[in-house]
Amino acid sequence: MATFDRVLRGGVLWLTDGPAVADVGIKDGTIVEIGDLKQASASEIVKVEGLAVLPGMIDTQVHFREPGMEHKEDLESGSRAALYGGVTTFFEMPNTSPTTTSREALDDKLSRAKGRCWANYGFFVGASNDNIDQLRELELLPGTPGIKIFMGSSTGPLLVEGDENLRRVLENGSRPCPIHAEDEPRLRELKNLLSEHPHPREHPHVRDAEAARLATSRILALSRETGRPVHILHVSTADELTLIDEAKRHGLRTTAEATPQHLYFNEELYERRGTRAQMNPPIRSEEHRRAIFEALVEGLFDVLGSDHAPHTLDEKAKPYPQSPSGMPGVQTIYPFAMRLVAEGHISAERMLQLCCENPCAIYGIKGKGRIAVGYDADLVVCEPSTPFTVENAWFQSKCGWSAWEGEMLYGKPIHVLVNGTFSLREGSHVGSPSGCAVEYDWKPVPSKV
Ligand code: DOR
Repeated sequence: MATFDRVLRGGVLWLTDGPAVADVGIKDGTIVEIGDLKQASASEIVKVEGLAVLPGMIDTQVHFREPGMEHKEDLESGSRAALYGGVTTFFEMPNTSPTTTSREALDDKLSRAKGRCWANYGFFVGASNDNIDQLRELELLPGTPGIKIFMGSSTGPLLVEGDENLRRVLENGSRPCPIHAEDEPRLRELKNLLSEHPHPREHPHVRDAEAARLATSRILALSRETGRPVHILHVSTADELTLIDEAKRHGLRTTAEATPQHLYFNEELYERRGTRAQMNPPIRSEEHRRAIFEALVEGLFDVLGSDHAPHTLDEKAKPYPQSPSGMPGVQTIYPFAMRLVAEGHISAERMLQLCCENPCAIYGIKGKGRIAVGYDADLVVCEPSTPFTVENAWFQSKCGWSAWEGEMLYGKPIHVLVNGTFSLREGSHVGSPSGCAVEYDWKPVPSKV
């Protein structure tokens, strides 16, 4: 009998502490040996000499729209887009229809996902004013990385607005909460500022930097008060960077996410792409973009996340502000991260922390995020320093467009293995989906009362 199911031979492995040329032996979905495996027997030997082997990316913020909005995306198409981009695990957000705010809704998503996902999955439960008392139990259900909080309304009805309810949400559990930080009362006030025939370039003014600063400041104060760690999603302003830095210095377990779009685009995108540039929190001025980029280079951020939020072209063709907010991104995020490395902004090791290791550390993901013996064989084979121009034909998302079309990214995935199975081969998906529900190592912290 073969020792291994599969051996990847001769690739440059991107390891936590730097690159190394070695073979990877895989059995039953797990990496069981790393080294010189020339003598080993295997059912399949795949030569990857001259190519890099990276751990698959873990994208902890995507919206895959199922159930309820499958015309925009579904779990199969969204996870296929993930696969083509080298994302082998995704965490999906609860603003579907119905919202994922109960055990039944979570179970429904998990059963829909079974056998249809090209990448591994976890589904956040949404906090709402009606489920606060159940959150302590909900956050520990199998299949969820925890509880998501929308402080400002975006796509869908999920919202926890006032400090009193936010405090109760934070008190009702212990896992880190990802936060959409925009201040709802301020958003309501600013809506009146829209001109008579609004243009999408007004978006960063009606959801302004102060709305983001206020919300982040409020949730960090509540995090300090309650001791509950928070993870600030899609940071979009220079102002929030100072707050996050201070929180980290004061020993709060605060973590933060940067998205490729806030790192790369500025408000000029509204002129080129109109409503396709519209997302929440908005793409802002060059000053904010540069500050976020510098903070990434300096090490403030913990993760990169895509906030993949597909809407159809018909929906985006509605006049602003009836047009929905959000842009796809799960397929382009890892190649964007590789561009950051290829251009020398961050090291390969830092990229692995942002895309693979830190998501595991924050959410307690078991057995993923690195190439090491005993870890799941979620692997991406690519040429990280080879650029490619992003073309529409490559996209797998149902929405069929991306703000990244025409941009240059790096390291288009050639092969991708998910749980040891080849799911992308020579750039095309093969076989059937092999994604599984992610498992977590998380011990609940007992309630104070
Ligand atoms: O622009 C956004 N779109 N921001 C969000 O927070 C939600 C997302 C969506 O689901 O469309």
